Amino acid sequence: MRYGVIGTGWIAKSFIDGAREVCGSEFSAVYSRTAESGNKFAAENKIEKVYTDINEFANGDFDAVYIASPNRLHYEQSKLMLESGKHVICEKPITVEPEELEELQALAEKNGLVYVEAIMYMFNPARELLKNAIGKIGKVTSAHFDFSQLSSKYPAYLRGELPNIFNPALATGCLMDLGIYCVYPALDLFGMPEKITACAHFMESGADGSGTAGLLYSDKLITFTYSKLGQDRLGSQIFGDEGTIKIESISKLINMSLVSNNGETQEIIGDVAKEKLMGYEALGFEKFIADPDDEYYYVTKQRALQVSQIMKQIRDICGIKFG
Ligand SMILES: NC(=O)c1ccc[n+]([C@@H]2O[C@H](COP(=O)([O-])OP(=O)(O)OC[C@H]3O[C@@H](n4cnc5c(N)ncnc54)[C@H](OP(=O)(O)O)[C@@H]3O)[C@@H](O)[C@H]2O)c1
Repeated sequence: MRYGVIGTGWIAKSFIDGAREVCGSEFSAVYSRTAESGNKFAAENKIEKVYTDINEFANGDFDAVYIASPNRLHYEQSKLMLESGKHVICEKPITVEPEELEELQALAEKNGLVYVEAIMYMFNPARELLKNAIGKIGKVTSAHFDFSQLSSKYPAYLRGELPNIFNPALATGCLMDLGIYCVYPALDLFGMPEKITACAHFMESGADGSGTAGLLYSDKLITFTYSKLGQDRLGSQIFGDEGTIKIESISKLINMSLVSNNGETQEIIGDVAKEKLMGYEALGFEKFIADPDDEYYYVTKQRALQVSQIMKQIRDICGIKFG
């Protein structure tokens, strides 16, 4: 598969490294707003062609596009690529609004193209291991997922700068950046909730710096905490009446273990490099392109839409607004 890339941040490099390692994918073009940044990224990542005009890029000689631009741009850039005959794998959150996602899913289908969200959870082989482990802890009554990661951009914010991640005009903030990693497993493992509660702490920029949400089901309560202003040291847990699953990283599903009520601990999975997990995203995406009737493609599309709908509800409850 030959890819073009939009965005020149570190995450684009991780995806390229992972896709090359796991699938042997080729990367032939990059779009950047400036030749300087595009040329630097192209040289560092052995990419041949640099575009600074998005319309010229859209007609470039490659089959698929990986989009890693700020969230606000995902919809319009994905739309342009799908209209130009390119398959699209777009960073999370795939669109800001669920209606935008529905529109683009329909556009992709109409044009015979594959359009997926680049979310590690859905393509991670550890997802199945986690599901199996849940079957061994008895009746699940509650779970707590945390993704709190002190932002490397926070010192710049404190100096008076406005990094993209804390700029509501770009539809960023903590829920969109980290909270989504809690929403995905909750919906995938337990389905759609009956009731949602949530609240957010806002920074002066208007971005949500941290937040919490509770998803209530008839038989269980799933709670989330997420923050860009502090670092989690405890991880996430799923509680059953016969045991507990400990998950060090809810986004990567690494270092997971099952602790039975008698105290015995079994490792579910250890550490896995992030690039490899991103490579699995590329692997899934390329499988769907080879076989768009793959049942799992349908599952990923449906899950992406459900996640987008729940994220929207959480934003509405908390009053998270984008400029
Ligand atoms: N999967 C993961 O683990 C993971 C991790 C981090 C981020 N992400 C996702 O990846 C996406 C990018 O995040 P990021 O932190 O890399 O974002 P970012 O650094 O703010 O921007 C990414 C790239 O977009 C371009 N860009 C920056 N500001 C822009 C603006 N105002 N208008 C248009 N283009 C702009 C820049 O490239 P040029 O200057 O070259 O144009 C930049 O390198 C987000 O959707 C985020 O959620 C995913």
